[in-house]
Amino acid sequence: MNQPETLNNREMRQRKVLIDWDIRYEVDATLRERMQAAADLCLQCEQVRIPCAVTVCLCDDDTIAEINSRYRGIDRSTDVLSFPSVNYPEKLTAGSCEILLKQEYDDQYDAAFLGDLFISVPHMKAQAREYGHTETREGVYLLVHGICHLMGYDHIEDSDKERMRRMEEKILSAASVTRESTEAADDQELLSMAREAMLQSYSPYSSYPVGAALHSRDGRIFTGCNVENASFGLTNCAERTAVFKAVSEGARSFDVIAIAARTKAWPCGACRQVLNEFAPELRVLVTWDDHVEEKTLAELLPEGFGPHSM
Ligand code: THU
Repeated sequence: MNQPETLNNREMRQRKVLIDWDIRYEVDATLRERMQAAADLCLQCEQVRIPCAVTVCLCDDDTIAEINSRYRGIDRSTDVLSFPSVNYPEKLTAGSCEILLKQEYDDQYDAAFLGDLFISVPHMKAQAREYGHTETREGVYLLVHGICHLMGYDHIEDSDKERMRRMEEKILSAASVTRESTEAADDQELLSMAREAMLQSYSPYSSYPVGAALHSRDGRIFTGCNVENASFGLTNCAERTAVFKAVSEGARSFDVIAIAARTKAWPCGACRQVLNEFAPELRVLVTWDDHVEEKTLAELLPEGFGPHSM
């Protein structure tokens, strides 16, 4: 398997699962970020307290079929294959096997090695189409299913199957990727969080409350409101409050922002510039009464000056 892309102590502290990617079939960066966030949540939900590593190979159908045939004697393609490195005792899973996990310490990763996963990207895409949900949801689901196997879960007997399903649901809902979730539903959630953030507005001078909800590509949502000041020029807009909260919590990459106000309020020039620093490809949703409109940040800030301009 490949060497990890980055491995330093700071990252190990922040992320509980080091994913050693082997990309034989490209997927977009958002999906990999969502997978990383979901992998971290696997360990959190299972209450594993030590850093762990896994390899994840994203491949095509022929590759996964060959691995299926070579290691399992099954001569066909599948969606995900997992090869745990820990030999869990009957009925036990990672959360209650810390000593066993520590025996799998791998100095290449500076973490306990849980095993290898293979995911067929074409299979994942076809299943997303078949089930009518997003590729993100399907990709994250397959990763979570695979990591659950690497943590000792199985679905051979009915009782084990139920237990595995429960754990998967817990992780997926923590990752905001529930079964019914679609991108449209995610937008609705973001819009209602922006409307709620508007209620926190401190706007005694303008009486114009604004709320924002910023979606980070790692799955987190940061809200913000406008915060005014008796020295008027020091007012901070809702959008910038959300961005500054997010960046100070370690988020650096965003895909959607929702903004709520009494009237249609596209972000002001200063906010457009600040958003452009971190998210030139941002989708911007504005809502007022029961209206919603959408534009891209690139439409709102054409030819914008940003980190790539220098
Ligand atoms: N405001 C925002 O929060 N976001 C914008 O993009 C435009 C303006 C706030 C700032 C001030 O508190 C109030 O709206 C009136 O300008």
